[in-house]
Amino acid sequence: MTRKKNSFLSKSTKNKKDTRNVIWGGRFDQNPTKAMLNLNSSIDFDKRLYKHDISASIVHSEMLAKKGIISKKDGRSIKKGLKAILKEIETGNFGYSQRLEDIHMNVESRLKELIGEAAGRLHIARSRNDQVATDFRLWIREALENMDILLRDFQETLISIAEKHTETIMPGYTHLQNAQPVTLGHHLLAYVEMLGRDRSRSSDCRKRLNECPLGAGAIAGTGFPIDRKMTSTALGFTSPTKNSMDSVSDRDFVIEFLSLLAIISTHLSRLSEEIILWSSSPFNFVQLPEKYSTGSSMLPQKRNPDAAELIRGKSGRVIGCLSSLLVMMKGLPLTYSKDMQEDKEPVFDSFDTIELCIVCMSGMMREIRFNKDIMREAASLGHSTAISAADWITQTLGKPFRESHFIVGQLVKIAEQQGCALDQLELEQMQDIEPAITAEVYQVLTLETTVSSKNSFGGTAPNNVKLACKTARKQYLD
Ligand code: ARG
Repeated sequence: MTRKKNSFLSKSTKNKKDTRNVIWGGRFDQNPTKAMLNLNSSIDFDKRLYKHDISASIVHSEMLAKKGIISKKDGRSIKKGLKAILKEIETGNFGYSQRLEDIHMNVESRLKELIGEAAGRLHIARSRNDQVATDFRLWIREALENMDILLRDFQETLISIAEKHTETIMPGYTHLQNAQPVTLGHHLLAYVEMLGRDRSRSSDCRKRLNECPLGAGAIAGTGFPIDRKMTSTALGFTSPTKNSMDSVSDRDFVIEFLSLLAIISTHLSRLSEEIILWSSSPFNFVQLPEKYSTGSSMLPQKRNPDAAELIRGKSGRVIGCLSSLLVMMKGLPLTYSKDMQEDKEPVFDSFDTIELCIVCMSGMMREIRFNKDIMREAASLGHSTAISAADWITQTLGKPFRESHFIVGQLVKIAEQQGCALDQLELEQMQDIEPAITAEVYQVLTLETTVSSKNSFGGTAPNNVKLACKTARKQYLD
């Protein structure tokens, strides 16, 4: 069943002579043009607020009835009507009307059709300005909870892979130049930490947004004896907002949420970039699952990392959403301006984008195959264990680190001239540079000793990484 007519509009359509704009009442003589309707209407996207709009309205009506502002009877009928509307929406039987602008007007108008005059009492001591601020806070609060679950699942995926690779050696890069060998587990746990900070940002954002603007009215509060604490508590907020003007004009919570999503997208994009590099033929560190790759319509041999490329690309979109909000808000005088209706699409779009990206990235990571031998081989290039030789000279021969650095630099130069690795230099060649060097130095030059010697807290040694996996499980997954 779809609703054809709408009671707010039916008067003017029934009576041709009466062209009054019946949404805005007696003040208006003309109806909006089609273009104005298209510009003004937000129902196509803000219908996503329906659940929160209805819960906030139910709570508001309960408060009005409790305070004797409306009769108990009207309170009951409003609540029953709102519940019926919720059901209509959830079963796909609600006819949205663009003419009614947004979700708030659509719900209220349907309520009037269902319960008659009492519907007009629901809007006592309330404006769409505090209503939309309340609904959107509720929506974002729920989105933050869902985001936390997604981030946690993604952390779990990465921790599980890290646990299998606590000893898998790979090159660690700075400036994308081989710097020191590290373990793959250590590398992946770096992302677990980033996601951990994202989750803590998410909980900070939730704390700050969890104040209830309902009751601020259009801008200045109301003379009705409302109970803002009651509505705030019933909607799960910690307290009512303290300033009515701030309540209707604040969109910090939206900006914070989008900042969080933009940071998450940056993290996802960096991991994507690594996967793209690792799967390229010069690296060949990983084999991507076919499910998350695509072929080329022309080149039969190709397997392209499209999932990773798209996730990297979509970060531009999410960061763009954050900037659109910042730019939209920066010049607005207090309090509400209709510009602020533009806050919703970037939020919905960014949330959907990040959700999809996390699910894809997590799925891809679970099935990625690491070419351990190639990674190990790559780790040995570029004299990546030189630091161990310098540390050994410092520790064993008691030289200042700067001097050890200089000595090893000379050894690297000779190795480079000979086109060999550091540990392929003859002992005599080393002693020509520093006579005190002994054969013991060769032991510290292997990848395994280099990696396992980095056992300071937070270092890449396999034993550390094993422990770090356990700690991460406890900290993030328990
Ligand atoms: N659809 C509007 C929005 O999202 C609701 C608030 C409208 N308030 C107003 N005074 N026109 O911002």
